[in-house]
Amino acid sequence: MLNKDVEKVLISEEEIDKIVTDLAEQISRDYSGEDKRLVLLCILKGSIVFMGDLMKKLTVPVEIDCMRVSSYGAGTESSGSINIMLDLVRPDLPECDILIVEDIIDSGRTLSYLTGYLEHKGARSVKTCTLLDKPSRRTVEFTPDYTGVMIPDEFVIGYGLDYAEKYRALPYIGILKPEVYSK
Ligand code: IMP
Ligand code: MG
Repeated sequence: MLNKDVEKVLISEEEIDKIVTDLAEQISRDYSGEDKRLVLLCILKGSIVFMGDLMKKLTVPVEIDCMRVSSYGAGTESSGSINIMLDLVRPDLPECDILIVEDIIDSGRTLSYLTGYLEHKGARSVKTCTLLDKPSRRTVEFTPDYTGVMIPDEFVIGYGLDYAEKYRALPYIGILKPEVYSK
């Protein structure tokens, strides 16, 4: 049954599965070289479900790591500054091909900041993969290397994405009823 706070399902479980399968195929192709050392970097907490599904579908060897950053406050608007709450600590970073895995790109600040940060820290290569993209909301010019699907400017939840830490476990991506956050 549909969660009572969901206005409508934007992307169903079956559609998500297809999108993730396509992304995994592209990534597997691009990182198939003997010289590659793919490290998927999960941006906690929103990307946790997406990354779990994505890594299972890859056909190349993969390592995983996590960072936690926050750009959003408690509501539906980005706070504008990026805080690193959990950093990546890897002495072998110069041998790693990092693929940042994000749930959604909105203003572009998080991915743009993290890409620069990891390059500066010395990663051999840094690329980005996002499940969702809201291109109309960009304030920083940024195009991810892998994009699952573009969506309109609506606040979405589920499949890892939250509003005030809720709804992350929904298996689909839904549009949150505006009355939930305008109350
Ligand atoms: P950016 O730095 O503005 O691109 O923000 C990206 C982050 O904002 C994502 O990792 C999400 O945590 C959060 N975010 C942006 N849009 C939404 C949304 O519609 N639902 C839930 N979280 C969102
Ligand atoms: Mg996030």
